[in-house]
Amino acid sequence: MTTPVISVHDLTVRYRTKESSVYAVDQVSFALEPGKVLALVGESGSGKSTAAMSVLRLLPPEAEVLGGEVLFEGRDLLALGDKPLRAIRGRRIAMIFQDPVAGLNPVISIGDQVAEALTSHLEIGKKDAKRQAVAILSSVGLADPERVAKSYPFQLSGGMCQRVMIGIATALHPDVIVADEPTSALDVTIQAQILYQLNRLREAQGTAILLITHDFGVVAQMADDVAVMYAGRVIETGGVQEMLERPLHPYTHALLGTLPRLDGQGGPLRAIPGQPPEMVVPAEHCPFIPRCGKVLTACRESPPPPLEEQHGHPVACYNPIWQS
Ligand SMILES: Nc1ncnc2c1ncn2[C@@H]1O[C@H](COP(=O)(O)OP(=O)(O)O)[C@@H](O)[C@H]1O
Ligand SMILES: [Mg+2]
Repeated sequence: MTTPVISVHDLTVRYRTKESSVYAVDQVSFALEPGKVLALVGESGSGKSTAAMSVLRLLPPEAEVLGGEVLFEGRDLLALGDKPLRAIRGRRIAMIFQDPVAGLNPVISIGDQVAEALTSHLEIGKKDAKRQAVAILSSVGLADPERVAKSYPFQLSGGMCQRVMIGIATALHPDVIVADEPTSALDVTIQAQILYQLNRLREAQGTAILLITHDFGVVAQMADDVAVMYAGRVIETGGVQEMLERPLHPYTHALLGTLPRLDGQGGPLRAIPGQPPEMVVPAEHCPFIPRCGKVLTACRESPPPPLEEQHGHPVACYNPIWQS
């Protein structure tokens, strides 16, 4: 076993507002291996973004980390001072967001924004940084990078802005990229191109990627390892092949059933009936009960233990679906 580049242990995060208190992330653990892609998968509201933002301590003020640790090179990022944390953010661990336009500054030219990322972290002069910026824009597949460098975000398409974000994220050769639904706002063709770019950069630089997605198609294409989240918990985790071929949790089965048909017949995606619950108190029973066809008495008496090796990989379920 290699040492993970990032390992999260027993992370619990609560949002407290005047109206409610939501356990968005509940005793979550996962590990990202160096140079690998770990996909964090689940429906909207399952706590993926909260988990991702915790890694870089980008949570909004109403969020409270109630417990756990995020280890990066043996240091707990949750306990690190602001200054050492700033040295890690961007430089060692970079972030790519779902909305690329919002991630860029609207009043600064693209070239200046890329150059700024370089000068703020590296010993490099402004002129050199500007020249490198053009090379970086070209490296993420942007045609006419000189012109793109002189443009402002509103002059570019969403797909182009996302390429710029990937360029900025990878310019500093980080060890880790946290990508939160990087292609969800883009159409399918552009999505494939962006994933291709991410994969290429990973191969060239050996960057590990924490890839957040609700789409098992993206998982199948990109991931080495998978952690499935439901109602703030990781409910199943394993290697991608294993997870696709031998899923155990009824929820993972349901998610996989929503894959578009591979025979090209199309048709709408089958949604999973029901809604994920809002976790307003720590769970007293399995949160998947209302949507599960395999409920046992035990499922109603207490939530399943966080993750337990069963039939080949860790799963949090009293009654996994399994064929011997
Ligand atoms: N700023 C916030 N204040 C209160 N609740 C929040 C906030 N952000 C997210 N939540 C709640 O936390 C849960 C997890 O949200 P999120 O981490 O965004 O999930 P995902 O990324 O999987 O869609 C949801 O129930 C959501 O409504
Ligand atoms: Mg999200």
